[in-house]
Amino acid sequence: MDKIIVIDFGGQYCHLISRRIRELGVYSEILPHDCKLSILKKKNPKGIILSGGPGSVYNNRDPKLHDKFYSYVQFQNIPLLGICYGHHLIVHQLGGTIEPHNRKEYGKTILYKLEETPLLKGLHDEEVVWMSHGDQVKKLPKAFRPIAETNTCPIAAYENEEQYIYGVQFHPEVTNTPKGNIILSNFIDKIAKCKKEWRLENWIQKSIGDIQEQVGQKNRIILGLSGGVDSSVTAVLLHEAIGDRLHCIFVNNGLLRKNEEKKVQKVFKDKLGFSNFHYIDAEKLFLENLKGIEDPEEKRRIIGHTFIEIFEQKTIELEHSYPNIEFLAQGTIYPDRVETSATSKASAKIKSHHNLTLPNDMKLQIIEPLKNLYKDEVRRIGRKLGLPSIIIDRHPFPGPGLAVRCIGEITKQRLDTLREADYILMEEIKKEGLYDELWQIFCVFLPLKTVGVMGDYRTYQNICAIRAVESRDAMTASFARLDWELLERIGTRIINEVDGFNRVLYDISNKPPSTIEFE
Ligand code: XMP
Repeated sequence: MDKIIVIDFGGQYCHLISRRIRELGVYSEILPHDCKLSILKKKNPKGIILSGGPGSVYNNRDPKLHDKFYSYVQFQNIPLLGICYGHHLIVHQLGGTIEPHNRKEYGKTILYKLEETPLLKGLHDEEVVWMSHGDQVKKLPKAFRPIAETNTCPIAAYENEEQYIYGVQFHPEVTNTPKGNIILSNFIDKIAKCKKEWRLENWIQKSIGDIQEQVGQKNRIILGLSGGVDSSVTAVLLHEAIGDRLHCIFVNNGLLRKNEEKKVQKVFKDKLGFSNFHYIDAEKLFLENLKGIEDPEEKRRIIGHTFIEIFEQKTIELEHSYPNIEFLAQGTIYPDRVETSATSKASAKIKSHHNLTLPNDMKLQIIEPLKNLYKDEVRRIGRKLGLPSIIIDRHPFPGPGLAVRCIGEITKQRLDTLREADYILMEEIKKEGLYDELWQIFCVFLPLKTVGVMGDYRTYQNICAIRAVESRDAMTASFARLDWELLERIGTRIINEVDGFNRVLYDISNKPPSTIEFE
């Protein structure tokens, strides 16, 4: 299959470039800027895109490409497109000059097209593009020519048509560049001449064949199924490939939303006919292990360990009955595996995520069928394989579940109170048709007591906080501006119907500086 490689220079949009290329029907992968040339060669790319990044090319410490990289692409006639830092790097390394500009350009700008060229075909003479740069190209290398400019940047795009090298100062991958997709499409279509073979139907067929071949006729797979999108899609895909030789282990840790365990069982056992669905009620053990624990990281650690303990125990038990369990499946997806330079440099650990990642010393072979897919691709596959919207379109739910939404010590009573309030919130939001518009919405139990009055009686109960956010990828988020009357309806219902809360607060913090979950 034809492939475009994106080389990562630490730009925050690296995954976005790769996703856009896939949306246009061509398979794309990301490689780090310091990856060995032999690895790049093995990928046999039809085109290469150099991403943006925070560096400056004349700073010795900032990443560069080896001379051999340019000899390879030129010798093989592999088209090259540089974006922002990548646009500078090509010029800098092939004999031109870059300089800091006294006016930084950030945000929307008008781009003036200077030439009819393959890269800019289909664009008008003036187009809106999105810029974010301080440096700019001053002098182009030999045989390069400018093909577009802005008011402050005379070489906003260039080409070297003979060698198939192109560069753009702006970001075609972001939606703020409305015609960005045409530019990327021109690159993969008209310049790199890629065949559009990246179709999810083909992927599903091929993946099922690969799983059947890898697992063989007799072996079995176990999978920790949480009911989240990634593990659910992994489950249906594996089930399609090997049927009941797939064993799903669903652990009820007592930290789930109301009726969650029933919903998940209904989908997998009743609707999809999974006969080896193993439900483990481990509420007691989790609550015992969490008793008296208030520290968020300690809660996360205990939950992770308890899960692994239970999972290992169940696996040993199953292995007695089915000695041919040879594989452990995981719902890892592409962004989990390929951290871009920008995210991997992130210094401080804010929260340790618990995502059912199991130890490798289980002596089982790991199988990760979704490991090259993006979330939206995973969702589309799940839909095609018959997963209902209540699984596919659900809001993200953290691995440690309600433990990180029940501040301070966790008790069954607190969790039950929280579950009831959360259930009412969901009911009202769904009734209002707002569920799909929000990234997440949930209730949080605050272990503070305040005074209220109900009828003629004084109450002294806890506080329920409501958190609703809009986001694209959870890296940043803004609080949702929900309608006052809706909030009033929700608040009134929670206070009237849930024993344990007599006050409701609405969280108006954005991320950053806050995070989405409270702990
Ligand atoms: P924060 O709270 O860090 O959350 O702003 C960002 C996103 O990650 C989710 N989240 C988790 N997801 N395991 C997960 O799979 C976890 O341990 C975990 N903790 C937070 C959170 O719900 C939000 O969508």
